[in-house]
Amino acid sequence: MKKPEHLMVEHYAGDVIGIGEREPRLTWNYTEQIPDGATVQLSVRRKILGGMSVCGTYEVPADQNILCGWPDKPLNSREQVFVKVRLCTKTEVSDWSEELFFETGLLDKFEMRAYFIGPSWYEGRTDKRPVSLIRTEFDLGQNPVWARLYISALGLVEPEINGGKVSEDILIPGWTNYENRVLYWSYDITAQLQKGKNAAGFWLGDGWYRGRIGFNGGKANVYGEKNGILAQIEVGFEDGTVQRIVSNSWDGKWKASVSPILSSDLAEGEVYDRRLEKTGWSAPFYDDSDWSCVAQIPYDMNRVMTSAMSPVRKAEERGPVNVEKIGEQGERTDWIIDFGQNCTQRLKIFFQGFEHGDRIRIQHAEVLEKDGTLCTRPLRRGQQIDEYISNGEDAWWEPRFSIHGFRYVQITGWRGELFPQNVISCVYYSDLRRKGSLETSNAMVNRLYANVLWSMRSNFVSVPTDCPQRDERLGWTGDIALFSPTANFLYDVHSFLSNWMEDVAFEQKKWGTVPFYVPYLPLSEWSVPQAIAIWGDAAVLVPWYLYLYSGDRNILKKQYQTAQCWVDEVIGYLSKNGVWDRKPDYVLGQLGDWLDPTAPPDDATKAMTEKELVATAFFAKSVELLARMSKELNYLEKESYYREKLDWIRKGFLDTFVRDDGFMTSDTQCAYALAIEFGLLDEYPQLKKQAGERLAQLVRESEGKVGTGFAGTPYVLPALTQTDHVEEAYDLFFSEKCPSWMYQVRMGGTTTWERWDSMLEDGTVNPGDMTSFNHYALGSVADWMHGVIGGIKPLEPGWKTFQIAPRQCPKISHACVTHETPNGRIEVNWRVCEETSTFQLDITVPYGITGILDVLGQEKKKLGGGTYHFQFH
Ligand code: BGC
Repeated sequence: MKKPEHLMVEHYAGDVIGIGEREPRLTWNYTEQIPDGATVQLSVRRKILGGMSVCGTYEVPADQNILCGWPDKPLNSREQVFVKVRLCTKTEVSDWSEELFFETGLLDKFEMRAYFIGPSWYEGRTDKRPVSLIRTEFDLGQNPVWARLYISALGLVEPEINGGKVSEDILIPGWTNYENRVLYWSYDITAQLQKGKNAAGFWLGDGWYRGRIGFNGGKANVYGEKNGILAQIEVGFEDGTVQRIVSNSWDGKWKASVSPILSSDLAEGEVYDRRLEKTGWSAPFYDDSDWSCVAQIPYDMNRVMTSAMSPVRKAEERGPVNVEKIGEQGERTDWIIDFGQNCTQRLKIFFQGFEHGDRIRIQHAEVLEKDGTLCTRPLRRGQQIDEYISNGEDAWWEPRFSIHGFRYVQITGWRGELFPQNVISCVYYSDLRRKGSLETSNAMVNRLYANVLWSMRSNFVSVPTDCPQRDERLGWTGDIALFSPTANFLYDVHSFLSNWMEDVAFEQKKWGTVPFYVPYLPLSEWSVPQAIAIWGDAAVLVPWYLYLYSGDRNILKKQYQTAQCWVDEVIGYLSKNGVWDRKPDYVLGQLGDWLDPTAPPDDATKAMTEKELVATAFFAKSVELLARMSKELNYLEKESYYREKLDWIRKGFLDTFVRDDGFMTSDTQCAYALAIEFGLLDEYPQLKKQAGERLAQLVRESEGKVGTGFAGTPYVLPALTQTDHVEEAYDLFFSEKCPSWMYQVRMGGTTTWERWDSMLEDGTVNPGDMTSFNHYALGSVADWMHGVIGGIKPLEPGWKTFQIAPRQCPKISHACVTHETPNGRIEVNWRVCEETSTFQLDITVPYGITGILDVLGQEKKKLGGGTYHFQFH
């Protein structure tokens, strides 16, 4: 028998330290059919750091391999666990799986003995404050056998031990609503400590805590005026003793000073003066006699939480694809550098041959104007300008607490030639496990797909943001509501989005509704949260798709109340006939099919489709999903209550928006797509057929122009496909006219854009004040690509059953789609063989789940775990 594979704890991607679960669940996969009656032995070796190992072996039925309940006694804080599993029958035993290691963090609140501390001097209320440094020294009587750093900040922190970085993670502790909670992170620092004197140093930036956030001027000091770090170092020795060093303001051992970072803003940029560097400040024996004492920053320690998601981390480094001199004044030169890829990144530069006091300016932008200059207008206040002042020595430098969305960089004030090897771009995003892929024989399709991936990566930076460049970068709820199925397919976003949903729940309690973006702060016309469709529906859609892709009921349990409050709230706004036609009480009203292609550059809400229709359709979807959640959780009374409401809303939708002749009151791509995809016509097959035909006709009449904005875009191709208009779906998908997906590819896009025409046909940038080249919403088309080009789609939570239904088109002769389900990897690889006129399919189905093969003109087939080859004429 083959050994089990891919042993995982909860939703962590591999070995992990600092988890917060006392009874973590385990998942593993099989690579062959498990014999009837087989069991699995779990070997658990556990020890509290520095303590003795305790071993146990447990047996469970082999089919409990997905999120199997913790078999042993609950874990304690700082407990290391080594787990392996093997398959057993009466006659045979497999080899043990690879061993998985994980370690708990501090599970009881009172174990965090540190306090938040920050600079004690008056810093002013401006957001242009120097970044501070905090340091401490401590003696260790022996060499440590283990050591941990538990770290957090009201602000952003980068720790160093004995002069070296602790990790490559950035933007720690990440963005949560700090009123609600702040995360702490755990690091193994054993190798960095030694017997004798040691030092720890911390860079303390403003970040989201008190830096500037948001548009129209934004706001600074949103969560507080004073920032601080929280650090607890624990060191264990051979003899079993433990030494603990905790940040505090009273033992006189923690000191603060200003750093060479004169100011740092996430979007506006960072100014670094190398002349002010304090060499050796995070190493022992540094003379800190002129440093100040630290002040304690009050914070409710009950709100310091263990982080369950991955940090933002460097994913790759890229060199420039083009370096061009654009100006020269004596020895000083100006350059534009093209990195070939728009994304969230920042530059690491080697400053060579500069003189003391030389100032170099680095500005980042997504695109160039037609005349080749950097296009900075769409960045608004978030101008993404870093500045470096040299101390005359050659050195590498990278900003620390700001982050940029760009492809192009302008460097002003360089000395002499700029060599490509002097500039490296470091790409950052939250470290997520890749789950899905699609590759086809068509280069345009592959580029579009890559663009979707890049826009997702660029906007999965601690929270799911709308865009990574301008003065906005907010967790707009509607964008992720629409992109959730795609995100779940591409990456394991379970912990990332579950974490964000905790703040959605908090904000909903605080404001009485789901705000427009989370974490929320009042900004200009968005100052009072109001219930609006799609954006608020995130409360139901996001947890549902997490459940659909993972099969993990816990997310439903945790988020049920939030989903229910949203639905109950909106039920109160519906008219007697079940239609959501009440106008939200703020200037913009419903956002409807936001950024419909007919919307003028200055009014994104102007749309062809009635806002009430869009709102009611999405609400029906939310009520339907809430009913399904209720069923999954066995809340049967609630299920029937919401089913009744659903019938009422569906009837209202039909009576109001669907005419007797089958036309809809908004005769638009969006209207038919929503009605079809949200099942609003399912009980009237004739109407549904008519709607499909009308949609196909509209698409033909449009001659290849997409007619939908944010709301309709994810559904228009699925609706065409569902109603047997695959040809029209492909025609629209492949259209290169503006607006369309391939238009962006034809125009050289390397990400998906906010507007269909962020760049106009003539190569100029859309004049709208809101024009980003890196938004994921329109990339939701990838969900259709996975399901129809590749051919796979989940039918039941956790992919227990899934559909294999690729649909051919003349422009693609081969496609390969993969997805890591909880049970393992699905792979579907198809090609059209011209010589034999055959359609050939290779399929891998993981063990424990079932694929339903549905090829046009063939009978449906059920496929259990295994690999298959099919050939159809
Ligand atoms: C954001 C969008 C967001 C919208 C809502 C924009 O500024 O970039 O993606 O959903 O506002 O109005």
